[in-house]
Amino acid sequence: MTRPGAQLALSIVAVATVLAVVQVATAGVPRSKFDAMVNRMSQPVDESLGLYDDQDKVVQLTVGNFNETVLEQNRGSLVEFYNTYCGHCRRFAPTYKELAQQLHAWQDVVIVSAIDCAAEENNGICRTYEVMGYPTLRYMGPGFQPSEKQYGLKLESQKPEEIRNLLAGFVAADNQTVNNTLWPNFAPVSETESAGSLFEASQNQREYVALIHEPENSTIAIQTALFLLQWPAVQVRRFNDASLAVKYKLDTSKENIALVDRKDNVKILVPEAQTSEAYAKAIETALRALHFTPRPEQQLDQQHLTSTTAKNGALNDIIKEVRRNKHLIYQADLEMAIRTILHNEVPKVNEISGERLLALQRFLTVLQRYNPLGTNGRELVSKLKDYVVQFNQQLPGKTFEQELQRLEAKLGPIYSANHFVGCTGSSPHLRGFSCSLWTLFHFMSVQAATNEGAQDPLEVLQAMHGYIKNFFGCTDCSEHFQAMASRRKIWNVGSKDEAVLWLWQAHNEVNLRLAGDATEDSQFPKVQFPTVSSCTQCRHNATASATATKTGADIDWNKDAVLSFLKNIHNPQFVNRFGVQREELLHETLDTMRQKRQIANVFSDMDMRMGMFLYAFCIVMMVVAFKLFAFKGGYRKKPYGHDLLGKV
Ligand SMILES: Cc1cc2nc3c(=O)[nH]c(=O)nc-3n(C[C@H](O)[C@H](O)[C@H](O)COP(=O)(O)OP(=O)(O)OC[C@H]3O[C@@H](n4cnc5c(N)ncnc54)[C@H](O)[C@@H]3O)c2cc1C
Ligand SMILES: *[C@@H]1O[C@H](CO)[C@@H](O)[C@H](O)[C@H]1NC(C)=O
Ligand SMILES: *[C@@H]1O[C@H](CO)[C@@H](O)[C@H](O)[C@H]1NC(C)=O
Ligand SMILES: *[C@@H]1O[C@H](CO)[C@@H](O)[C@H](O)[C@H]1NC(C)=O
Ligand SMILES: *[C@@H]1O[C@H](CO)[C@@H](O)[C@H](O)[C@H]1NC(C)=O
Ligand SMILES: *[C@@H]1O[C@H](CO)[C@@H](O)[C@H](O)[C@H]1NC(C)=O
Repeated sequence: MTRPGAQLALSIVAVATVLAVVQVATAGVPRSKFDAMVNRMSQPVDESLGLYDDQDKVVQLTVGNFNETVLEQNRGSLVEFYNTYCGHCRRFAPTYKELAQQLHAWQDVVIVSAIDCAAEENNGICRTYEVMGYPTLRYMGPGFQPSEKQYGLKLESQKPEEIRNLLAGFVAADNQTVNNTLWPNFAPVSETESAGSLFEASQNQREYVALIHEPENSTIAIQTALFLLQWPAVQVRRFNDASLAVKYKLDTSKENIALVDRKDNVKILVPEAQTSEAYAKAIETALRALHFTPRPEQQLDQQHLTSTTAKNGALNDIIKEVRRNKHLIYQADLEMAIRTILHNEVPKVNEISGERLLALQRFLTVLQRYNPLGTNGRELVSKLKDYVVQFNQQLPGKTFEQELQRLEAKLGPIYSANHFVGCTGSSPHLRGFSCSLWTLFHFMSVQAATNEGAQDPLEVLQAMHGYIKNFFGCTDCSEHFQAMASRRKIWNVGSKDEAVLWLWQAHNEVNLRLAGDATEDSQFPKVQFPTVSSCTQCRHNATASATATKTGADIDWNKDAVLSFLKNIHNPQFVNRFGVQREELLHETLDTMRQKRQIANVFSDMDMRMGMFLYAFCIVMMVVAFKLFAFKGGYRKKPYGHDLLGKV
């Protein structure tokens, strides 16, 4: 069948079929089922679940218990400031948990704790403590009070051995009178002291003094003392001066321990290894042999988190739905990204000034232009931008937060969704915000590319770069991104389409690096996007590249196809509303966007019935055309047949 009329009719039918299918696919699950699903997720999911739970020895800090746990205590606190969504924080979490487990015996002198700065309620704390990178570790000593430029001592390491060493050093330097009977005497033994005088100042419970030589820069004796806090029978003292060793019959070349009793008897203990744990174990073993026992352990109060199990049912339903349609863009994710940015990332910065302020102004300008929120949300962003551009020196994060709250209270409901959908992870700490942030920037880059009015090809990329550099709370992501941006010459991007593709390629580079990483969600593996199954024509040789996905860069992309695929999935009309709870907040937006951007499309209404109607209409057309051209014959002689084709 090669007759043009029939071909035309067939292609109309084909287009209509595709559109109808797209509509069916994007219509999602029935509302009733979804409402039930969402109702089960009673709490907004932006209430971060944190990386630690009651099973861990990490004390979980929140705005509600921070002051009473950290300030003016008779012991110190090691505090980790982290963001749940920061991949590096997640990779560090097992290390920190293990550290907390190891250092649990130190808890009367220093506790291991953590606060989630991704939880909006904690904004104030993370802002006050001027946390600039995540994770940040700080030591707050006994009696600690925050003051100007005094927010604790920073531990510049993420290696457990180094952290322990630094922490022990900070603790031992806190040698002012601490109202804590368990606080060890960290002062090094001096030349003037004798075995007998060692007991003079100590409590009468102390039956033994364990003397340990501590070489320069080592904290082995300090750590041993901390491991033995539960042993009232012994006091650990350190000495740095190797010449003192002879006095206690110690051979410093072997680094062993002298256990001195009140009668000046010295017992030499030989630990199994040169670690503080081995030292402590050697002393404990000796004490047990002498029938001493440790104090009974005290459990610190742990704040109980709300159970997450109730949410799991709904979560699984969402994941199932999203996995069926992996490349769809969801309204809920776009909103969650904006919400997290406005409510958490920006307000967390203590002083927004200089480059940061400029970055915020740029970001809000671009967001205002390509805002996927509904009427109230557009009003909010526009007002917020007007507010922020008034500042040219500095804007305190707190002031921004107050203005945001004021505007939101005034404008009424802003967000139609309160949890992630396409960015839902199969477990609480996976995906989420960082996933939605990519989605938002891809979305905006495509909106810019389809916006006739926009001239600057760098508009969105520049806003994104500034945002990621100055506000994104995933510090290592931010650093990687900046390095990648200069390596991939972000500022040389010459057109809006190129900008879309630049971001797509950059994202794929990150996907490649993170494939198989510990932070990867097994339900959503990192792939070179789009996959063959999402877009066959996006790869020149789909068969070859399907096997070459592991080496990402080797894929022979068809960039024109990729570009139109990206434009297609980010088209506001195809943004999926699955998971939206307050659809009434949205309607006007899409219409406005459509009119403004004049996205020419006869199928402007996503209503499925319309699609079905067109489908039926086209079938009728085909039958008519078929009859007209195929059976009546002689169409070749009729010029209007060609005219008709010529106009298509
Ligand atoms: C700027 C930036 C830099 C980051 N750098 C790091 C880092 O250095 N280290 C680290 O551990 N984590 C980093 N992350 C986080 C990481 O990239 C992921 O966001 C996170 O691991 C969650 O992954 P995900 O599986 O949800 O998918 P994401 O990679 O977040 O992708 C989100 C969605 O975008 C779509 N998508 C995927 N690839 C593309 C593409 N090429 N083009 C268009 N759409 C695509 C997919 O549908 C996916 O669901 C960064 C995040 C951002 C925003
Ligand atoms: C915590 O302490 C800080 C500094 O002392 C104080 O400004 C803040 O109001 C306190 N917060 C609460 C909740 O008590
Ligand atoms: C030391 O702490 C105890 C109880 O923790 C308290 O009763 C006492 O007043 C404190 N002493 C000083 C000097 O702070
Ligand atoms: C306290 O620590 C400082 C610095 O580590 C040290 O110089 C000082 O001697 C110590 N004081 C006491 C009483 O241990
Ligand atoms: C101890 O640390 C200081 C400062 O880091 C360094 O200069 C010194 O060489 C170190 N000493 C030893 C014995 O490692
Ligand atoms: C696709 O790649 C395969 C394997 O590399 C090769 O055998 C085949 O000829 C390629 N096809 C095309 C159309 O390039």
